Amino acid sequence: MWCLLVLLCSQGVAFSAGFTSASTADVDISHCKKSRNPECFMNVSEIIRYHGYPSEEYEVTTEDGYILAVYRIPAGRNDRNTGQRPAVFLQHAFLGDATHWISNLPSNSLGFVLADAGYDVWLGNSRGNTWSLKHKTLKPCQKEFWQFSFNEMGKYDIPAELNFIMNKTGQKDVFYIGHSEGSTSGFIAFYMYPELAKRVKVFFALGPVTACPHATSPLVKITNLPEPLLRLVLGYKGAAHQIKFLKGPVTQLCTSLDKFCAHILCYIAGGSVKNINSSRTDMYVGHSPAGTSVHDIFHWRQLAHTDRFQAYDYGSKENMKKYNQTAPPAYKIEEIKTPTAVWSGGQDTFADPTDMARLLPRITNLIYHEHFPAWGHLDFIWGLDAPEKMYLKIIEILRKYF
Ligand SMILES: *[C@@H]1O[C@H](CO)[C@@H](O)[C@H](O)[C@H]1NC(C)=O
Ligand SMILES: *[C@@H]1O[C@H](CO)[C@@H](O)[C@H](O)[C@H]1NC(C)=O
Ligand SMILES: *[C@@H]1O[C@H](CO)[C@@H](O)[C@H](O)[C@H]1NC(C)=O
Ligand SMILES: *[C@@H]1O[C@H](CO)[C@@H](O)[C@H](O)[C@H]1NC(C)=O
Repeated sequence: MWCLLVLLCSQGVAFSAGFTSASTADVDISHCKKSRNPECFMNVSEIIRYHGYPSEEYEVTTEDGYILAVYRIPAGRNDRNTGQRPAVFLQHAFLGDATHWISNLPSNSLGFVLADAGYDVWLGNSRGNTWSLKHKTLKPCQKEFWQFSFNEMGKYDIPAELNFIMNKTGQKDVFYIGHSEGSTSGFIAFYMYPELAKRVKVFFALGPVTACPHATSPLVKITNLPEPLLRLVLGYKGAAHQIKFLKGPVTQLCTSLDKFCAHILCYIAGGSVKNINSSRTDMYVGHSPAGTSVHDIFHWRQLAHTDRFQAYDYGSKENMKKYNQTAPPAYKIEEIKTPTAVWSGGQDTFADPTDMARLLPRITNLIYHEHFPAWGHLDFIWGLDAPEKMYLKIIEILRKYF
């Protein structure tokens, strides 16, 4: 099981050692034949179109200069009528990307299900992942490019993306769906910008993670290693990006040993292999991990050791310089008024039930909560029973609030 973690780290090493374009736009398609699902080697728009949906690509520039790739499914498969549809924005998890919402077949991928249900679906990509590696002035080979964590995703990415969508569609408001770190940055954005929060009709938080001292995932546990050692391995730039030459072998491995790959995913994220379509694990590993900054990993490492959902802790002296106080400022999620619906899983190794029990009472306007005892962290996006158990309910709430 540790081989995957070693692989993640080795990708980190290669990445820190020298950035080579991680763009998968020009990958060698010849691997396709050997993997079961051709979507492994497609880019986001290609996957959308492969399943018969219209797709659009946009670049959204944040206030601090990052250029994010945002994808849109403006209509359903059999419905080319792009008249006014309510906009729904979907933000992926830690180390994920926009493909997380369209990894399965149309009937069990939330992105496609929502498009067919009459919504204008927008898929975000966090700064620093496979598709969002551009900046107005910085390059990924520079350390400065990687000085961000989920704090900046909440502070800059989410507001830029939501404002762009509302502007583009001419709508006054938008729905927000965040999985894992996508919920984390949602909480931060809606706490920091109450005016923006007012324009979010409902915040759907799937397996939200804030302070996570009870997280049991090996991916969290491995960060218990001493800081100097982690720095030595990971460096100061990006980590866990895919390396082109490994993508072929890894997807092939998961085509031949699909059950093994499903077990690894469950080992990392919790949940049961029975709820994963193991015939699609090549697709899952074909696009994940999509990479992030080492700074983001270190910010998570801090939240795994505290009960306080707070900004990055630089140590009291540096904190004073940065925040004008010795302790990092906390994100006061109690102040968020946005109607919020939460789904949680009993086997979730990132959003542990103990941490969830602390988070839920802090959500002031909790309109809905449902807990699935058997679910792990990936069942929200990939679980075979997710459409009947959760997606239908999401659509029911969307309809109620529109
Ligand atoms: C994705 O692929 C399509 C068609 O092959 C291409 O037109 C588009 O530019 C690609 N998008 C990105 C972000 O590379
Ligand atoms: C909104 O769109 C208009 C053009 O349609 C553009 O001029 C304006 O800068 C946009 N505003 C924001 C905040 O993106
Ligand atoms: C599982 O994935 C395979 C391969 O993509 C697909 O043919 C099959 O229909 C999927 N099964 C379900 C239940 O989605
Ligand atoms: C820093 O904090 C002190 C006391 O909390 C306050 O009086 C001062 O105005 C703050 N300075 C800045 C630059 O915000």
